[in-house]
Amino acid sequence: MQQLIGQLSPKRSPNLGNFRLQHLNTTDECRSEATTDKQNTEVKYLHDMATMSRMSFYWCFLLCACLGVACVACVCVWSSQWRGGFAWDSSARQFNWHPVLMVSGLVVLYGYGAVLYRVPLTWGGDKRPWKLAHAGLMLLALLLSIVGLCAVFQVHSAKQIPALYSIHSWVGICTVALFAMQWVVGFGGFLLPCSPVSLRVVLKPLHVWLGASILTLSIAACISGINENLIFNLKGTVNGTQPYSSLPPEAVFANSLGVLIVVFGLVVLRILSNRNWERPEPGIQDAVYRPLLQEENE
Ligand code: HEM
Repeated sequence: MQQLIGQLSPKRSPNLGNFRLQHLNTTDECRSEATTDKQNTEVKYLHDMATMSRMSFYWCFLLCACLGVACVACVCVWSSQWRGGFAWDSSARQFNWHPVLMVSGLVVLYGYGAVLYRVPLTWGGDKRPWKLAHAGLMLLALLLSIVGLCAVFQVHSAKQIPALYSIHSWVGICTVALFAMQWVVGFGGFLLPCSPVSLRVVLKPLHVWLGASILTLSIAACISGINENLIFNLKGTVNGTQPYSSLPPEAVFANSLGVLIVVFGLVVLRILSNRNWERPEPGIQDAVYRPLLQEENE
């Protein structure tokens, strides 16, 4: 039985997820046949639970992937159909890169990067390629959002619009600054050879909490940005558009984009908060650093 439990421990069998078997007493109960049967039933039950948990994860993950694609598609359609498309010439068309890059980078790619470790397929072997993939996706998200900020700062300076006056810009700039800080600290703490294990143990819960907070803040920035943009552009009689308050098709579409972004964020946060979907972590002795290019079995 001990051997069976050993085989089923989360570290050996990622398929069992985090359904731990601690409540099975592995010393006394193993001696009797009757209790072995009971334990087998319990192990089977835990197996079934783990399979169900894995299936519900994959449904959630699929939903998250589809919502992300829908968010990017909708923000592109909004910018091209209603806001005149894209250019890089300090005009209003340059501004359109801002929502597209912020939603693609700081919401969708960021969300995908955040849930990467929860995919059971990534649990089996060496964690290092997934660490690099996580850091790489986050770096790409950061770069896209920096280019998205450059787009709006340039437009503002060309049109002599004051910088950083709105609550949207305050929330937005703080989010990007926190994200940049999180990336640098995460890179130093989890990927550099010189970082001590004790630092990583302290850093991890902070990293997870700040990661979820950054996503929440970037969703707040997107919602306020969408709202501000609609208020600026849908002025009714002034520029030949219908007023925002009359809910023209553009407003319905952009409001729906906002709802999609919120739902995407909620699904990501749901995935991150389910303890049964966490990657089973090895003991502290396994957390000792091994250089990134060293083979797992060495
Ligand atoms: C995480 C996502 C976002 C972040 C971090 C962010 C950040 C920022 C920042 C820092 C500014 C100030 C630029 C300046 O002062 O020159 C700004 C401006 C602006 N953003 Fe965003 N933004 C985000 C998403 C969006 C979205 C989705 C929209 C929707 C269209 C949007 C609309 C605007 C508008 C209209 C302005 C100009 C007015 C203002 O400065 O508040 N933003 N954004």
